[in-house]
Parts: sequence; C-alpha cells; structure tokens
Amino acid sequence: MKILVTGGAGFIGSAVVRLAVARGHQVVNLDALTYAACLDNVASVADSPLYSFEHADIRNRAALDAVLARHEPDAIMHLAAESHVDRSIDGPGDFVETNVTGTFNLLEAARAHWVRKGKPQGFRFHHISTDEVFGSLGATGKFTEDTPYAPNSPYSASKAASDHLVRAWHETYGLPVVLTNCSNNYGPFHFPEKLVPVVILNALAGKPIPVYGNGQNVRDWLFVEDHADALLCVLDKGAIGRSYNIGGENEARNIDLVRIICALLDEMRPDGAPYDRLITFVADRPGHDLRYAIDPTRIRTELGWRPSVTVEEGLRRTVRWYLDNETWWRALQNRAGVGQRLGVKA
Ligand SMILES: NC(=O)c1ccc[n+]([C@@H]2O[C@H](COP(=O)([O-])OP(=O)(O)OC[C@H]3O[C@@H](n4cnc5c(N)ncnc54)[C@H](O)[C@@H]3O)[C@@H](O)[C@H]2O)c1
Repeated sequence: MKILVTGGAGFIGSAVVRLAVARGHQVVNLDALTYAACLDNVASVADSPLYSFEHADIRNRAALDAVLARHEPDAIMHLAAESHVDRSIDGPGDFVETNVTGTFNLLEAARAHWVRKGKPQGFRFHHISTDEVFGSLGATGKFTEDTPYAPNSPYSASKAASDHLVRAWHETYGLPVVLTNCSNNYGPFHFPEKLVPVVILNALAGKPIPVYGNGQNVRDWLFVEDHADALLCVLDKGAIGRSYNIGGENEARNIDLVRIICALLDEMRPDGAPYDRLITFVADRPGHDLRYAIDPTRIRTELGWRPSVTVEEGLRRTVRWYLDNETWWRALQNRAGVGQRLGVKA
C-alpha cells in the first residue's frame, strides 16, 4: 500500500513512517518541518526505495493537491499538528490554523483525489487524534468512543474541531475515514519539551525536574511504537466511519511516572543519583485536566489489538535511548521555547 503520512518528521509520525516502511509499505512523508520536526527521526529509512519526503504545509491547499497528484496514495494517515498544550495557551492561533484549517484543506484535497480516482472504497483517510478531546475525568471512569467531547485547552479544542470535520466528510461526502483517539505517548525521539524527556534531560543536567501543580494528574501512558502498531492495525482492519480509542492500559500519576524515571536513572546513570532530589513542584498549567483514562474495549475486541509493553518496560527502553542518543537531543535543545516554562500567561 502507498501511504501518505502527514507529520512524519514528528514524534509519533516518524514512528509510523519507520514501522510502515519496515512492513513493506511505500511511504510519502509530508511535513512542514516546524520547530517540532526532526528529519533525523526518519534517517533509518531515508535511503529506502519505499520512502520519499515532501516538504509541504497542510495550510497550503495547492501544495497538497500537487503532492496527491504526484504520488496517488491509497491511504492518508494524518498526524501533522501543533501538539504542545503549553504552546497552545500562549499562541492558540497556530493551533486553529494547522489543526483545524489544515485538516480542512487535507480533507478537501483528499476528497478531490478520491473522486478523481473513481471513489475507491479501499481508500482510507485516517485521522489521528487525542483522548484530550474528551476533557477531564474524576477519580473513576474511562473514556469510551461514546464519551461526549468536552475539550478544555486550545490544543484539545482544535483537535476536537478537526475530529468533527473528519466525521462530517464521511457522513456528507462518503469519504472512507477512520479515526483514532489516543492517550499520552512516550518513547524514543520524543521532542525535549514534553514531560518524559524533560524529566530525563533535566535529571542528567542536574537541573530541577519541574512537576506541575501537586503531580496528582493521571495519564494513561502508551509506548510510541505500540501506538504506531495500533495505527497500522486500524488502517488495515478498522471499519469505515468508526473511531477507536487507543490506550496503554498504564495509568500513572505524573509524580509516580517521574519517580519511576528517576529510579531508572539511579540504576542506569548512578553518578548523579538520587535523581528524585531534583523534583520541584511548580505552578500548575491553567485548565490542567486531572485525569485521562482509555477504555480500550473496542480496539481489543473488534480488532484484536493491545499494547505490547508495560510502562516500566517502555520507560526503561526510553531512558536507555536518551542515554545512547545525546547528539539527537542536544541539537534540539537550542530550538525556540525548549527548556523554558510556557503556558502560564492565562
Ligand atoms: N504526543 C502524544 O502523546 C499524542 C497523543 C495522542 C494523539 N496525538 C496526536 O498525534 C499527532 C502527532 O503528535 P506528535 O506528538 O508526534 O506531534 P509532534 O509535534 O512531535 O509532530 C508534529 C509534526 O507535524 C508537523 N507539522 C506541524 N504543522 C504542520 C503543518 N502546518 N503542515 C505540515 N506539517 C506540520 C511538524 O513539523 C511535526 O513534524 C498529532 O495529531 C497529535 O495531536 C499525540
């Protein structure tokens, strides 16, 4: 299959690109190369005859039409997005432009491509979204695919809007879509502004490890390579027009996750131990959702998918990867905003 992956130079998109190529798919990686992108993430497949790259912006409809006409993909996996909640608090406009207008452009370009090809039912537009569209849970309960949308941040609101557009393009125009809403990812190639790499890199530098609020916020952590596997499973087996929640079956409070990472570093890089002495509670994020948890029943029972690693195993592999790939993360630490506290203006 020939798959156009948008956002394939980012964290999750690059995992999808690497896995899809490894499984023999032809992959066109379309990416605008924003601050969050890194082509080193796909260096392992860059020379493959199955791989090609298109430097294009989903806000530019003409560029999308040209890429689709040139490559004629059988499927689109749409991951390009502005993805950092803290940045969405400081600058929501970029999130609306890329996540909402960009998704609209891509849907329209995909629809034109699909119509031109004679509306093949085998075509797929796979929209990759987040569990954050469902808002915040209390101490109990889980998100199902029927949970009402209640996004609380500019990021999650823009993703919710894009989900609604995708559903509407199926209902109105018959575009063969599938949607996925996934919990928090972690793993290799995670941009160094997100919680897990911040903890690892601040610990290694002997700097304070910032934990927002009281650290009681709960997330359902999924190893990024498991997410990529789930996405290819949904692309292959998901029912048209259906959405699937993807979770790690690994709920953890932020403070507990941070302590696990510190303990792994104590073991794997003992010269700075104990790293938990660096944990520092800082002002909370405005509108910080308390808890996310995924009910994965649908993807497990209908598609037979479940995650392959526990959070302990996945974090061990992640910490090892950051210890072994210092050149990768050092190069990204100079990018605008990295290492600064963002999202406290509200
Ligand atoms: N990271 C998570 O935990 C998580 C969880 C669930 C869902 N998601 C979703 O998965 C997708 C990928 O997330 P990520 O963490 O890999 O994000 P990321 O920020 O690491 O990567 C995003 C990629 O999209 C590209 N991009 C941004 N704007 C673009 C534009 N206008 N045109 C073309 N390319 C553009 C960037 O250059 C970058 O390579 C997003 O849609 C996100 O909402 C992420």
